[in-house]
Amino acid sequence: MIRVEGLSKTFVQGFWMRRVEAVRGVTFSVDAGSVFGFLGPNGAGKTTTIKMLTGLIAPTRGRAELLGAPIGDPRVLRRVGFLPENPYVYPYLTPREFVEMCGELSGLRGAACRDRARRSLERTGVWYAADRQVRRLSKGMLQRTGLAAALVADPELLILDEPMSGLDPVGRREVKDLILEERQAGRTIFFSTHILADVEALCDRVAILRSGVVVVSGALSELLRAEAQSTEVVLGQVGGSLAGALEAAGLGLAWAGDRARVEVPGDQVEEVLRQALEAGAKVVSVSPHHTTLEDLFVREAIQGEA
Ligand SMILES: Nc1ncnc2c1ncn2[C@@H]1O[C@H](COP(=O)(O)OP(=O)(O)OP(=O)(O)O)[C@@H](O)[C@H]1O
Ligand SMILES: [Mg+2]
Repeated sequence: MIRVEGLSKTFVQGFWMRRVEAVRGVTFSVDAGSVFGFLGPNGAGKTTTIKMLTGLIAPTRGRAELLGAPIGDPRVLRRVGFLPENPYVYPYLTPREFVEMCGELSGLRGAACRDRARRSLERTGVWYAADRQVRRLSKGMLQRTGLAAALVADPELLILDEPMSGLDPVGRREVKDLILEERQAGRTIFFSTHILADVEALCDRVAILRSGVVVVSGALSELLRAEAQSTEVVLGQVGGSLAGALEAAGLGLAWAGDRARVEVPGDQVEEVLRQALEAGAKVVSVSPHHTTLEDLFVREAIQGEA
């Protein structure tokens, strides 16, 4: 659905022609039917990449395709729903008028267009305010109106620049559910975000951008599995000989009352549990530490910067 190869953007600004290399040779692709998370700290180049994908700005170098056609092809853009970073909604329109207008721009007409606009506004939870002027809406209501506009033409591909921004916890949950519903219906979703918990809950694949360069990309499950480290085992009724054997194997015990907590490398867990059971100890808990996406993000996207 999206193929990006060596995409770069250099902004040149001001009298001194200062150059900002916002995106530097980004390559990734997004498969049909997947949810792809595009991550990176502030200023990493996410919005700049999305603007190139949606034809708002021209790349300095590299190429990209949406649905098999070069970016900027107007026939293809009709099949793509786009939520910009700060959706601009004409202030004197109402959400209903704005979303209907977006539907018409995507080729919808008459009752079908009105119907789709209504359903989109219902799905994003602003139908109750459909006839208020946009300038009287709150930030979150504006975001929801922008999202309804992205959905109105039932697009095959959704490109969303920080869809959860400005939403309250209920709104975030609703947008999460909406993304899952769209995926269920076979759509492809590409979205940028800073909210890593949402990425863990939603995405099949991710790319992490740092200073305009992709520093990590791949299937989320594989990235996190490769990171899996140790397992915490808590034992009860640990006798002196078992404690001695574990200490001798280089596994330190931390005591809390009559319970001993021990950090075990992933490949030694079964052996430690076998030893413990044979020695008559009780296994209180076994909890693998999964490295969260946050650890990966902090290490690759923030600390890597130094
Ligand atoms: N029109 C522009 N002219 C000059 N520099 C720009 C322009 N747009 C973006 N930049 C610069 O490009 C870099 C990347 O910005 P971009 O908006 O793509 O980041 P981002 O990853 O979307 O960040 P955020 O998470 O804050 O939204 C920044 O250094 C920014 O200052
Ligand atoms: Mg941005």
